[in-house]
Amino acid sequence: MRIVLMGYMASGKSSVGRLLARDLQMEFVDLDDYIEEEQQKSVKSIFSEHGEIFFRKLEHKMLSQVLDGKENLILSTGGGTPCYSGNMDTILEKSDHSIYLQLSIPALVERLKKEKEQRPLVRNIEDTDLPEFVGKHLFERRTYYAQAKHIVECDGKNLDEVVAEIKGLL
Ligand code: S3P
Repeated sequence: MRIVLMGYMASGKSSVGRLLARDLQMEFVDLDDYIEEEQQKSVKSIFSEHGEIFFRKLEHKMLSQVLDGKENLILSTGGGTPCYSGNMDTILEKSDHSIYLQLSIPALVERLKKEKEQRPLVRNIEDTDLPEFVGKHLFERRTYYAQAKHIVECDGKNLDEVVAEIKGLL
């Protein structure tokens, strides 16, 4: 079985994926970590040295590589992964369960205020400008996320509750 987690930056994809994988005794891959290992560079450095287009090409290639190479897998994608280069179609085709971890704009903003530094797309945005930025960005991206097989509403839930809800969908 292949499960793919998606959602906006700071929606908890990696934490939820890691916990779910431990619970279900499945292999866990975080796509950003996988890219960082392949490149021997942080995502932040890849963006600053080579730019976003280069990163998106890598992300596209690595997504297929991971999904083709593993049968029993939980994959946490990057926030932008489903939104570029036909990646959403690849995810739908190659996963048994695609899951959108949905959070409201205020909840995402609160989390991002604390977790901006390693994220090249938001690290230079003032906290006061985050609601507008996230609102517009999420509006564009939601078209993709909404194609997921399942949508899990995460506002007000802790990690264990989100994991339990996902297990109920499988
Ligand atoms: C991105 C999200 C990041 C990472 C890169 C781009 C995005 O992953 O892939 O910085 O476009 O939303 P997280 O969602 O884990 O922050």
